[in-house]
Amino acid sequence: MARLVVVSNRVPIPDKDGVAPAGGLAVALQAALQERGGIWMGWSGKSSGSREPERLSLRQQGNITYAVTDLTDTDVEEYYHGFANRVLWPVCHYRLDLAEYGRKEMAGYFRVNRFFAQRLAPLIEPDDVIWVHDYHLIPLAAELRRIGLKNRIGFFLHIPWPSADVLVTMPVHEEIMRGLSHYDLLGFQTDHDLQNFAGYLAREGIGNDLGDGLFDSHGRTFKAAAYPIGIETAAFAELAGKASANIMVRKARQSVEGRDLIIGVDRLDYSKGITQRLDAFERFITNNPAYQNKVTYLQITPKSRSEVPEYEQMQRMVAEQAGRVNGAIGTVDWVPIRYINRSSSRNVLAGLYRLATIGFVTPLRDGMNLVAKEYVAAQDPDRPGVLVLSRFAGAARELKGALLVNPYDVEGTANALAKALTMSIEERRERWRGMMDHLLEHDVSRWCNDFLRDLIVKTPAAN
Ligand code: UDP
Ligand code: G6P
Repeated sequence: MARLVVVSNRVPIPDKDGVAPAGGLAVALQAALQERGGIWMGWSGKSSGSREPERLSLRQQGNITYAVTDLTDTDVEEYYHGFANRVLWPVCHYRLDLAEYGRKEMAGYFRVNRFFAQRLAPLIEPDDVIWVHDYHLIPLAAELRRIGLKNRIGFFLHIPWPSADVLVTMPVHEEIMRGLSHYDLLGFQTDHDLQNFAGYLAREGIGNDLGDGLFDSHGRTFKAAAYPIGIETAAFAELAGKASANIMVRKARQSVEGRDLIIGVDRLDYSKGITQRLDAFERFITNNPAYQNKVTYLQITPKSRSEVPEYEQMQRMVAEQAGRVNGAIGTVDWVPIRYINRSSSRNVLAGLYRLATIGFVTPLRDGMNLVAKEYVAAQDPDRPGVLVLSRFAGAARELKGALLVNPYDVEGTANALAKALTMSIEERRERWRGMMDHLLEHDVSRWCNDFLRDLIVKTPAAN
């Protein structure tokens, strides 16, 4: 069996006791790495100041070698904050107004990818299969090929691939596409992303759809397909079942006694539609005053990418808006919105999801949205809650039992809350069962196996 090499910007390195950070992706990839033996390479998350680090820092854990590198301050600024999070992220999430193109940042992005390739290449053996993750590392395969590697290399994009009209606004879209053509397999979250990709090749006249999932571009033939990422459904359901014993979950239950809980969980990111969601909740209460003091909306929003100005501004906006809405609709004995600006453990989240009558997941654009899947997996089969889900989340392509909303439509989203709270228990069970069965069948291990099978067996011979 070929060894597996995973490369991602962030690496879930286990702690001193060998316990890896939780999270479906980490668990699934670690399982595949343990089975095949392999390497997980990426950024340490730390800065080395002005000196370029000389070598990777290696750490062995069972069959897996974790190999991470620091990056200089300039590299972090240009590659991570600059190009990845101020160009690729907003463009792929349709926020052209927030994209800040700068030659320096673009150059930094390609430079760091070359640096990753140079550090990684000496560790690679000829039969290794390499799997690169996400928008930070699109040019990595091209850089590895430049060094002479002929291995099979796959790429999975965790975020949306936008329509051609949007993508071509990015000055380096052609270089980005040239970079992608060096992979043997490209994985997208949904069929819509795949269609956008095929549409972009056709529109720009830089590639052809050869049928059977094969494409050619820039003189190379590769496969591209949709592989919607899943969660560890059965394990998450079990965690949620046991989480009621957790002290935080117990306190939460006591404090919402007699009220319905609505839960939102998102990194503080403009793509998540948090301010629109607060508006919709306010509208729901204004339209349905009978629900005053009958519901609590809990929004858990850990800080994210705070050094990027757009994220820093969001931080203030969301806090102010939560305060404003509470001021507008709250009463002497009722705080409608509880806003928590810190992260919660998976265990606590699982318990809170299970307590909540509504999972309120309304991103303006999202590659998949794992919170939506976790909310479903965490429900009590006898009394499942209702998922209110944005049609613009990748998860909406699969979770047909959700109440789908357009998050730009405040009134429609408010109406969906009212519909969810008055839904019969029979309908709730029926909607939930269909979604849960789907998630059990399409869990994260299956996602991982499907991608690796196609990368190893079905991609064209190295060309
Ligand atoms: N999450 C967490 N603690 C928090 C908030 C979120 O562990 O306080 C996890 C959440 O359970 C989910 C992930 O972070 O697994 C978020 O994934 P999602 O696809 O919803 O959004 P992303 O942050 O990747 O854009
Ligand atoms: C999204 C991206 C991931 C990223 C995560 C957290 O899920 O697809 O690649 O790791 O957000 O963002 P951060 O910038 O903190 O790594």
